[in-house]
Amino acid sequence: MRIVSGIQTTGNLHLGNYLGAIRQWVAMQDALQPGDDCLFFLADLHALTVTQDPGELAATTIEMAATLIAAGIDTDRAILFNQARVPEHAELCWVLQGTARMGWLNRMTQWKDKAGKNREGASVGLFTYPVLQAADVLVYLATHVPVGEDQKQHLELARDIATKFNTDFGVELFPLPEPLISAEAPRIMSLRDGQAKMSKSDPSDMSRIALIDDDDAIAAKIRKARTDPEPLPETMDALADRHEARNLVTIYAALSGRTPADVLTEFAGQGFGRFKPALADLAVAHLGPIRDRLNRLLDDRAEVACHLAKGAEKARSLAAPTLRAAQQAVGLQVG
Ligand code: TYM
Repeated sequence: MRIVSGIQTTGNLHLGNYLGAIRQWVAMQDALQPGDDCLFFLADLHALTVTQDPGELAATTIEMAATLIAAGIDTDRAILFNQARVPEHAELCWVLQGTARMGWLNRMTQWKDKAGKNREGASVGLFTYPVLQAADVLVYLATHVPVGEDQKQHLELARDIATKFNTDFGVELFPLPEPLISAEAPRIMSLRDGQAKMSKSDPSDMSRIALIDDDDAIAAKIRKARTDPEPLPETMDALADRHEARNLVTIYAALSGRTPADVLTEFAGQGFGRFKPALADLAVAHLGPIRDRLNRLLDDRAEVACHLAKGAEKARSLAAPTLRAAQQAVGLQVG
C-alpha cells in the first residue's frame, strides 16, 4: 500500500479537515504494515491558484504542518512535507497536462464553484489544479488516497489521467489510485449554513471550528451555530430537510465514535438548549489536547520546518524514479 494525501495551505485547518481527512490519515499511519508507505503533504503549490500574501503562505505552511503533527502525524512513520520542496510534482504535472483533456477539467465542480461567474478572471492554475492533484498522487504510484467526499471527483479524474497515459504510451506505469472516504464523517457542513461545506475560505470565522480555537471559541461557535426551534427527532431520516441540525448530530457522532442513530436515541425529544452544551463539551474534550500540543509546537517553528525538510528528502527519493519513467515514456531526453 502506498497512501498519499494532501491539504491546501490556504488557512487554518478546521473540524471538517480533521473529521473528513486527518483523523483517517492518523489511523492509516498507525495501522501501517512493513513495506507500506504513508505520504502526507501541504499543498502549497495549489494555494498559488488563488491570491496569496507571501508572508502568510509561509507562516500557514508551518502552522498547518504543526497542526498535523499535533493531531497525531508521526514524522518517523509518515512522510510529511510541503509540495514546493518536491519539484517532481510540478514536473510530472506538466507531462500530464498533455494527457488531461479540457472537457474533463471543464466538468470539475470545484472549478465551477471557485471560478463562479468570473471564469475569464480566474487564474489558469485554478483550472488546471486537478492535473497537479493527479500528479501529486501518481508521482508516488499511490494506491490509496484518504480524502473527504468533496475530493472524490478530483480523484476520479486522476484515475482517468492514469488510464489514458498508460494506454496512450503503452506502459503500465501508474496504478489506479483508490479514494478512501471516511464513512463516519463524509461531509462536515458550515455552522452558519447546513448546505455549504465547512471551508477554510468561508469569510465567516463563525462558520468553522478551527483546530487552533481555544475552548471558549469552540463553545461559542457551537452555541451560536444556526439551528431550528424543533426538538431532535428519533431518526436521521426525519432530519433530511433540517440541514443544520443534521450537521450537528453528524459532528457529535463523529467525535464520540458513535452512529448518528445512536446519538438520536440518546437525545430524541430534546431541544438544542440541551444538545449544544453537550456537543460543546465533547468538542472541547476532543480538540483541546490537539490545540495544546499545537501551541507548544508553534513555540519552535524552526523544528517544524526541519520535519518538513526531512520529509521532502524521503519524498523526492520516491518521486524521482516515477518522473523519470514518465519522461521516458513520452520521449523526453532527460539524460
Ligand atoms: P482541502 O485542503 O480543501 O481539504 C483537505 C482534506 O479535508 C477534506 N475536507 C473535508 N471533509 C469533510 N468535510 C469538510 N467540510 C471538508 N473540508 C475539507 C478534503 O476532502 C480533503 O481530504 N485539493 C485538495 C488538496 C490536495 C489533495 C492532493 C488531496 C491537493 N493534492 C492529492 C488528496 C490528494 C484540497 O483542496 O483539500
